[in-house]
Amino acid sequence: MLERKVTSVGILGAGKVGTAIARQAIRAGYSVAIATAKPPEDIALIVEFTAPGAIATTAEALMRDSDLIVIAVPLAKYRTLDASGLAGKVAIDVMNYWAPTDGAIADFEGARSSSEVVQLHLPETRLVRTLNHIGYHELEQNALAAGRPGRQALAIAANDVAARRLVADFIDQLGFDPVDAGPLIAARALQVGSPVFGARLARFEMENALSFGTVELIPV
Ligand SMILES: NC(=O)c1ccc[n+]([C@@H]2O[C@H](COP(=O)([O-])OP(=O)(O)OC[C@H]3O[C@@H](n4cnc5c(N)ncnc54)[C@H](OP(=O)(O)O)[C@@H]3O)[C@@H](O)[C@H]2O)c1
Repeated sequence: MLERKVTSVGILGAGKVGTAIARQAIRAGYSVAIATAKPPEDIALIVEFTAPGAIATTAEALMRDSDLIVIAVPLAKYRTLDASGLAGKVAIDVMNYWAPTDGAIADFEGARSSSEVVQLHLPETRLVRTLNHIGYHELEQNALAAGRPGRQALAIAANDVAARRLVADFIDQLGFDPVDAGPLIAARALQVGSPVFGARLARFEMENALSFGTVELIPV
């Protein structure tokens, strides 16, 4: 599939991680829109302060107009995501399952990673798992230009190969070395509590961690 170059990024969620990604994306030269479940006028001020240069909009407009979407809402809200609005879209899922803080959610207690469950809710979305295994503050602190020593790697898992490539370029532009982890089932190796989660790894370390991963990737 011939991919359109990403110039516009839409972020669902104006919280800690959504606004950190927005700031990095703006620095990298993307045009950025942010939406929550609230009307744009209710979040305009917070967007202006936390991600100067980003535009507050509606979720509908964001899903329609963005080349790339980032889903950065609490995971407990995943069923509120509009499957038809996100159909055909490349969307990064940064949402994590934190049972101790969010409470246990039966949907996420099985063998599947949370992204595989989200993909079931968004069957026509080209869902990509990445940016979930780095803290929001590190997105800005640890970003480095390509080729700089000590550049942190971020893994990317998705069933859609072209979407993986597109997101790899975005990750590179944000200041990180993208590592192709393969299909979405590999998201199990990026979950909360995995060796990769929260670890600052160079590309070769990430590749080693994924190839010698302790997570059993058995389809369910
Ligand atoms: N914090 C981190 O370092 C980090 C890193 C990687 C991944 N994550 C994951 O990313 C997700 C967001 O984390 P966060 O720390 O940014 O959370 P947060 O600060 O609580 O922000 C969540 C944002 O989502 C919005 N929201 C809630 N329901 C929504 C809906 N139905 N549609 C659109 N927007 C909605 C909220 O708006 P209202 O305030 O109006 O409800 C808020 O702006 C979580 O799943 C978390 O596990 C977090």
